[in-house]
Amino acid sequence: VDKDGTRVFDLRMQAGETEFEKGRATPTWGFNGSYLGPTLRAERGEKVRVRIGNGLDEASTVHWHGMHLPARMDGGPHQMIAPGATWSPRWTVDQPAATLWYHPHPHGATEQHVRRGLAGMFLLDDEKSERLDLPERYGVDDLPVIVQDVRFDGARFAEGHGTMQDVGFLGDRTMVNGTLSPYREVRDELIRLRLLNASTARTYDFGFPDGRAFSLIATDGGLLERPAAMDRVQLSPGERAEIVVRLRAGERVVLRSFPQDNYGDAWQRRFAGGDDSFDVLELRAAERLRPSPELPSVLAESETPDGKDAVRGRHFDLKRSGINGRAMEMSRVDETVTRGTTEVWTVRNGNGMPHNFHVHDVQFRVMEVNGAAPPPGLRGPKDTVFLPNGTTMKLALRFDGPADPDTPYMYHCHLLFHEDQAMMGQFVVV
Ligand code: C2O
Ligand code: CU
Ligand code: CU
Repeated sequence: VDKDGTRVFDLRMQAGETEFEKGRATPTWGFNGSYLGPTLRAERGEKVRVRIGNGLDEASTVHWHGMHLPARMDGGPHQMIAPGATWSPRWTVDQPAATLWYHPHPHGATEQHVRRGLAGMFLLDDEKSERLDLPERYGVDDLPVIVQDVRFDGARFAEGHGTMQDVGFLGDRTMVNGTLSPYREVRDELIRLRLLNASTARTYDFGFPDGRAFSLIATDGGLLERPAAMDRVQLSPGERAEIVVRLRAGERVVLRSFPQDNYGDAWQRRFAGGDDSFDVLELRAAERLRPSPELPSVLAESETPDGKDAVRGRHFDLKRSGINGRAMEMSRVDETVTRGTTEVWTVRNGNGMPHNFHVHDVQFRVMEVNGAAPPPGLRGPKDTVFLPNGTTMKLALRFDGPADPDTPYMYHCHLLFHEDQAMMGQFVVV
């Protein structure tokens, strides 16, 4: 914290080597280390500044995924950092407690930069949530779980997309926090997992092999109004969920990703990853567990708009070749929204393959999925949603940041190969 009370973070993008397996050094990228980056943490109301140095020999950017901030601090493709240069965005945290993340966003190269290891979590806290009795000891009963798809080619990361893999890169193993075959010893009855799908293309459907229920307490942008009992939570690239699972003394429980029946047709399930299953993380409970308090029945008040005061609607048709028939152009602004207003966006995927949809700067509410009320997993604040083929969603978004007619925010498919290939558009707030 510096003298005017700003919380200052230093990040440096650098190339290095990581031994994921003994004796095999893999060339990787990381922030302040060889792979991934530190967990940043700030409180609602706090002023934040990040000094980012680019120690790579390529230009890149750092984007604050899920953060509500001025467009020129957003770290999208318009805020490139040249090799050797430094960029120092600053903003005031003005949103509820949440599990956000940061990653590069250079137009056309995001998939490669993220897959090489540039990603980290950015946790937000707020006073109200701190008073709740939730597991909150970081690394003890509150665990960051950054899930990534990986495939090795000898010591190197394989980069190629398989034939028929039009969703982008799919791995044959998963890593959690940069670790292969991960396990974690835990000593508390209730364990909170902050799940982040940081894979570039793969969607996971998380659950436990014994079918046990867990409590979903938060989605992308923060806590739900109340915990929801579920046995599966599906996350496409970029999405987060916080779940709390109850353990019994001495047991070993595997967090698994299961085959997904809503992923697409048999072809998509087979060739685009929908039929795959992975053991993601093993939790090893100690012989004696510290008792945890029951979860509170009320967690938070919703701050996302309900859409009743929407001043306009827009439609977004997702196609592999572009959104609304247009491929991304850095110099073209696609949508202009009015500051302080609410809009309803209807997003449709009829493209025959899975896509998702992410909007910068806002946390929105899912109003409808194919004309029906959203399932529990989509009832919290969201910035990214999964749309299997044949899905239409209605989203309510409020744009209350500062106006900046000259600097756009992005909306895009977060399957990063699709994003790189121009499934992205730009909006300004005026
Ligand atoms: Cu996670 Cu536009 O990005
Ligand atoms: Cu984003
Ligand atoms: Cu897509």
